[in-house]
Amino acid sequence: MTLLQVAGLTRRFGDHAVLEGFDLSIAAGEAVALVGPNGSGKSTVLRCIAGTDAPSAGELLLDGEVYDERRPEVRQQVAALLDDLDFFPDLAVVEHLDLVAHAHRVPDPERVVDDVLADVGLLDQAPQLPGTLSSGQRQRLALGLLWVRPRRLLLLDEPEQRLDGAGLGWLTDRLLREKEDGVAVLFASHHPDLVDQVADRVVRLDGGR
Ligand SMILES: Nc1ncnc2c1ncn2[C@@H]1O[C@H](COP(=O)(O)OP(=O)(O)O)[C@@H](O)[C@H]1O
Ligand SMILES: [Mg+2]
Repeated sequence: MTLLQVAGLTRRFGDHAVLEGFDLSIAAGEAVALVGPNGSGKSTVLRCIAGTDAPSAGELLLDGEVYDERRPEVRQQVAALLDDLDFFPDLAVVEHLDLVAHAHRVPDPERVVDDVLADVGLLDQAPQLPGTLSSGQRQRLALGLLWVRPRRLLLLDEPEQRLDGAGLGWLTDRLLREKEDGVAVLFASHHPDLVDQVADRVVRLDGGR
């Protein structure tokens, strides 16, 4: 059962085609890793799917329907961590999680937020502002924002960034659990162990294909 289908995805900047006729389909509970050197287009694929960049050509289907990130039903299903971490400077860690849980009308948001704070290892940092966190803690917060909301498809751009060894083990387990829950995971990564342990398939980007 295909959840996301990408057909003929093309992204040009001027004369330069970063992606050229890129195809991919991903099913519920499946994880696909995007690998390739810097500049090979991994982030561009994820941004075009998340809707923060617009393809020059190609088709995106979610459950067989044209994917439009402006529709709330679509946004409920797709949770993205791109390479542009950004937080409200004057909202604490716990307030970020509350905000996202409430925005998505999650049932019992307080319990969900408490569970996620424990899971991402930020219980002690709950009252801190993002600017006071270490870079690894900020990455954990960004990941935690995905776990407090509904999701059927995760788009992750190098989610291992800034995590230490323990954090990497935790991320691996977390993504395996997501798959067990039927979530599809599309992630760009430079970490061979994460790719080996999580990905069912590896897609290597090279020359836009
Ligand atoms: N807005 C833009 N204008 C021009 N070139 C861009 C733009 N965004 C991305 N690119 C280029 O697209 C290529 C792919 O970038 P990216 O998808 O970030 O690669 P990766 O994530 O694999 O490192 C790079 O050569 C990058 O410079
Ligand atoms: Mg990138």
